[in-house]
Amino acid sequence: MNSTWVKHAISEINADYQRSADTHLIRLALPGFPGIAIYLKDESTHPTGSLKHRLARSLFLYGLCNGWIKEGTPIIESSSGSTAVSEAYFARLLGLPFIAVMPSCTAKRKIEQIEFYGGRCHFVESACEIYAASEMLARELRGHYMDQFTFAERATDWRGNNNIADSIFRQMEREPHPVPEWIVMSAGTGGTSATIGRYLRCQGYDTRLMVVDPQNSVFLDYWQSRDASLQSPVGSKIEGIGRPRVEPSFIPDVVDEMLRVPDAASVATAQWLETQLGRKVGASTGTNMWGALHLAARMRDADETGSIVTLLCDSGERYLDTYYNPQWVAANIGDIAPFQAEIARLV
Ligand SMILES: Cc1ncc(COP(=O)(O)O)c(C=O)c1O
Repeated sequence: MNSTWVKHAISEINADYQRSADTHLIRLALPGFPGIAIYLKDESTHPTGSLKHRLARSLFLYGLCNGWIKEGTPIIESSSGSTAVSEAYFARLLGLPFIAVMPSCTAKRKIEQIEFYGGRCHFVESACEIYAASEMLARELRGHYMDQFTFAERATDWRGNNNIADSIFRQMEREPHPVPEWIVMSAGTGGTSATIGRYLRCQGYDTRLMVVDPQNSVFLDYWQSRDASLQSPVGSKIEGIGRPRVEPSFIPDVVDEMLRVPDAASVATAQWLETQLGRKVGASTGTNMWGALHLAARMRDADETGSIVTLLCDSGERYLDTYYNPQWVAANIGDIAPFQAEIARLV
C-alpha cells in the first residue's frame, strides 16, 4: 500500500500537470519547398525549458509507483543538463534532495537553473564517467539513481495518453497533410524516438521515423551493426544528444532511417533557424532541422508533397557563451561556413 507521503507526492505531480499547458506546433514557411511543410514541436516552452520536462515527470511517477522514491529519498541523476534541470524542479515540488552528475563542460545556464531549483551539481571530467559516479553517489547517500538512460523508454507511456507523439498528431489534424511523411528526432536517452516510433506503429500510421545522430555518438553504428558493446572515447559536443555508449532506452527497431550530422552542420542550422523563428534554439534542434531539410529536399527532388515534423528541444538562450559565441564555435566546432552555404542552397 502507498504511504500517505507517496500518495501526496503523486497527487502533487498530477496537480502540477493539470496546471500545465501543451506546447506549440510551429509551421515554418519555406518558399523553396512548395507543397512541403516543416513543423517544429516547440518543447522549449515547458516550465523548465526543454522536452525533458515530460521525461522528468514520467521518471518521478515511475519511481514513486515502483516504491523506489519515498519521503526524504535523495534523487541522483546522470545528465548532460536538461534532464537535471527538469528533475530538480520536480524534486523541489516534492521536497526531495537532488544531485545532478554532469560533465564539467555543461552549459553554465543549465547549472544555474539546477541550483535555482535547489539542486546540487557533481561534476565529472567526461560524459563517459557520469554513470559510475551516479551509482556511487546513490550508494553512499542511500539515494535513488533515476537513470534516465535506462528507464526513459519504459517510464513514458507511448500508447497515447497525451505523450509527445499523440500531441503532435492532434495538433496536425487541420493541416493540409495531417499525417507527416517523416518525423525527425535526435537521441540522447533515445526515449523520445522510442515513444514516437512505438506510437506510429501502435496507431498504424505510415509516417517514418528518422533519427539524426551527431559526431562521436555510437547510436548510428549500433543501428547498423546491432553491436551493443560499441563505445566512443569522446563525448558528443551537441549537448543533450549523441552518446559514448549504447543506451538501453534507444530502441533501434522502431527507427526507419538514421543520418549522421556533422557538429558544424548542427550549429550552422541552429543559427540559421533564428532567421526563420526570430529566436535562438539549442544545437540539438539544429541537428533535427538539418535532417528535416534534407528530407524536404529529397521529397522536392521526387516531386512529392507532404509534411515533416521535428522537435525544437530547447532554447538557444542556454548556449549564448557556446554555440552562439563565434570564438567558442571556431575553437570547439570548427568552420561552419560550408554548412551555412549548403543550407542556403537547400532552402
Ligand atoms: C536539448 C536536448 N535535445 C534532445 C535530447 C534527446 O532526447 P531523448 O533523451 O529523449 O533521446 C535531449 C536529452 O537530454 C536534450 O537535452
